[in-house]
Amino acid sequence: MDAPAQLASGGTILIVDDMPANLEVVTNHLERQGYRAVVALSGDEGIERAEYVQPDLILLDVMMPGTDGFEICRRLKASDRTRAIPVIFMTALADTTDKLAGFAAGAVDYVTKPLNGAEVLARIESHLALYALRRQLAAQNAQLQQEIAVRSETQAALQRSNTEFEQLAYVASHDMQEPLRKIASYLQLLSQRYQGQLDADADEFIGYAVDGAKRMQALINDLLAYSRVGTKARPFAPTDCMLLVRTALADLQFAIEECGARVDIADLPMVMGDATQLSQVFRNLISNAIKFHRDEPPVVRVTAEPAGAFWRFTVSDNGIGIADEYFERIFVIFQRLHGRTRYAGTGIGLAICKKIVERHGGRIEVRSVVGEGSTFALTLPALQ
Ligand SMILES: Nc1ncnc2c1ncn2[C@@H]1O[C@H](COP(=O)(O)OP(=O)(O)OP(=O)(O)O)[C@@H](O)[C@H]1O
Ligand SMILES: [Mg+2]
Repeated sequence: MDAPAQLASGGTILIVDDMPANLEVVTNHLERQGYRAVVALSGDEGIERAEYVQPDLILLDVMMPGTDGFEICRRLKASDRTRAIPVIFMTALADTTDKLAGFAAGAVDYVTKPLNGAEVLARIESHLALYALRRQLAAQNAQLQQEIAVRSETQAALQRSNTEFEQLAYVASHDMQEPLRKIASYLQLLSQRYQGQLDADADEFIGYAVDGAKRMQALINDLLAYSRVGTKARPFAPTDCMLLVRTALADLQFAIEECGARVDIADLPMVMGDATQLSQVFRNLISNAIKFHRDEPPVVRVTAEPAGAFWRFTVSDNGIGIADEYFERIFVIFQRLHGRTRYAGTGIGLAICKKIVERHGGRIEVRSVVGEGSTFALTLPALQ
């Protein structure tokens, strides 16, 4: 018998049989193939040995005086320490029901007596290989589970710190409003009441201070609006985007007329969302599309197309465009590409859009060519 015993070679096999003659034959055969054989002459001894030696596989005789092989197998499978070890029955029984009883007791296979050396070896090898694979899978699975646990813990921590940050931003900006209002109004009072009574420098300085206080107020209001996306969120409901965009256009009527803008709206669908927040998204995007125009009057287009469980909307313009390297940055809070004097604003609009779209499980991105125009694309969940 010279079958190669590569993968399985060197494993420890426990043989449980009450007939010493049988034991000897099997033991010799296995040892010649490079296995370590451990023997037990009764079922109870077999259980003891299995717990102590932790073999890679057990060859178990069915017919033994006292406790039979099926019962021993059940006990092995009931114990945490021996459950995973594969058991192969050795049976003289040709009866199918007995073989089935063996499988029901938890065995992985059986060999019939009188034993055929090559067959026993082949079965042992294939089950050892399976067992090794199972152990490897179990180890990988355990590692994966651990990684998942670490990741979800990190995510929960991130979520907590985000919520805390939002609350902090909300409380801080809310509480700062009052003292700032006081500074701004008293500065304005100073400038009205003492205009021309101090020297020209003083008037100029007061003017700067009033301007600074106003800007600070605008920033704080924006910060509040940004933190409200998380703290004042409403549950999602079916929302008519056509209505949202029409309302946005009505809000922007003045800007549209001032620069002679044309806004084309395609058919827009219903989505699942927070109507107040989504109207903010469309208003911010259309307002930008109008604001960042070139010399010619702005032409803005709003479209929608299905994208799986989402709708993909676009808001495009023929404006000044954005260079590639700023595609990410413009979505960060207070990031602007131009001075305040050129285009009004604080740089909060797109940060709010991104936060709202992501709260809806969607994504927002921009594609643009400088001097030709920009297209903002966003996804929002379709009705279920
Ligand atoms: N349609 C667009 N075309 C060209 N540049 C744009 C467009 N939309 C946004 N940008 C650039 O991205 C920057 C950030 O936009 P965002 O809407 O966040 O701020 P803002 O419009 O400047 O100020 P706010 O929205 O707070 O009034 C803008 O300052 C501008 O430089
Ligand atoms: Mg804006």
